[in-house]
Amino acid sequence: MSTLVIVGAQWGDEAKGKIVDVLGNQATYVVRYSGGNNAGHTVITGGKTFKFHLLPAGILHKNTLSILAGGMAICPKALLEEIDRTREQQADLGELRISPSAHVVFPYHRLLDQLEESARGNNKIGTTSRGIGPMYTDKVQRIGIRMGEFVKPELFKKRLAEVLEFKNRLITLLGGEPVKIESLLEEYLGYAAKLAPYVSDTESVLQEAVRRDERVLFEGAQGTFLDLDHGTYPYVTSSHPTTGGACLGTGIGPRDIHNALGVCKAYTTRVGEGPFPTEQDNAVGQQIREQGHEYGTTTGRPRRCGWLDLVALRHSARINSLSGLIITRLDVLAGIPELEVCTAYDMGSGPVNYIPSTPCEWETVQAQYQTLAGWDEDISGARKWEDLPKTTQDYVRFIEEFTGVPAAILSIGPDREETIVLRPELIWG
Ligand code: IMP
Repeated sequence: MSTLVIVGAQWGDEAKGKIVDVLGNQATYVVRYSGGNNAGHTVITGGKTFKFHLLPAGILHKNTLSILAGGMAICPKALLEEIDRTREQQADLGELRISPSAHVVFPYHRLLDQLEESARGNNKIGTTSRGIGPMYTDKVQRIGIRMGEFVKPELFKKRLAEVLEFKNRLITLLGGEPVKIESLLEEYLGYAAKLAPYVSDTESVLQEAVRRDERVLFEGAQGTFLDLDHGTYPYVTSSHPTTGGACLGTGIGPRDIHNALGVCKAYTTRVGEGPFPTEQDNAVGQQIREQGHEYGTTTGRPRRCGWLDLVALRHSARINSLSGLIITRLDVLAGIPELEVCTAYDMGSGPVNYIPSTPCEWETVQAQYQTLAGWDEDISGARKWEDLPKTTQDYVRFIEEFTGVPAAILSIGPDREETIVLRPELIWG
């Protein structure tokens, strides 16, 4: 029982970075399997704050091999800057390896991200503008450039010439300035040379690690309801942040995923547009935003805040085969006398037992709530279950019972130490 997926169980930003940091030093491999620098993971440790967008949080552990797997979208410039920045903060990092199958994000993807968002008008998605959607579009269109090609200069030049001609036609159509191949090549050949030493096969490394029963931690980015298939389409990202995505993105088979822990906040947040039935666009939402410093790590945008949506969380537990929950940011709810939790969706004719699949259905959803008692105390000093107020314990128990998934870990502050491990057996099995 050696593989563990840490998956975002809501709309992203569930504090997965902290959790991966806490568990990363127990793993030999930490693997990012989907998305790119649209993600933002914050790790606070030893008085330092690390902000990761591409590097797995495991990079801070020197005996861990960090892997950027084939399912990822990698911006070379952002990755190199992140490596340098992290090295300035901590001299000895763990080893890094990049899959030759991972796709490369280029400036024309970022340009298209902006042009396409403008063209959407009122239907914009609120993307992070990092070019991730246009890059995955190229992947599906079978014109993407993979890392394995990018680091071979002659091959890269040839592929770029083919692709850019095609992309520039689209850019011009959308009113943008065509991208010049000469300056792009000059800049990106330099990045390719710097990244080349990191690029080599990762599938076999991971498959062998699983056979040897070594611990592999798959670090999810974004969250379940941003999944291209299972999220609130079309307000989703373009990859698969779910547990299934860990198989697709790495080449590990489904039966080799032993444990999946779903990270969820004690409330709900979302950045960008799209359905959010429990959103509180009012004083409570504002209180949660300020107490939880709910501003995006990647874009700095204020996050939309609301009550915990247990209907969505239960669905997420099923999609991801969750073996346990990691409930984060319980401390943020302190001082709110009554906490609402959504226990049913009503779409006009009584509660429904499914999750809508179209925006017009989502618009009709009325969240039905149950009220639970809150707590006033600052709980960030708690280090074991018994240290928590009874009302916090009841809140956690209610989540477990409703979702049918036991809590493995509680997080009650941003620091590594501000963590309560309730059921260690759920982590590695
Ligand atoms: P994209 O991934 O930049 O294409 O953005 C698509 C949607 O996913 C937007 O609503 C983004 O705000 C959201 N999104 C992408 N990455 C993250 C993340 O790491 N956390 C939260 N939301 C994200």
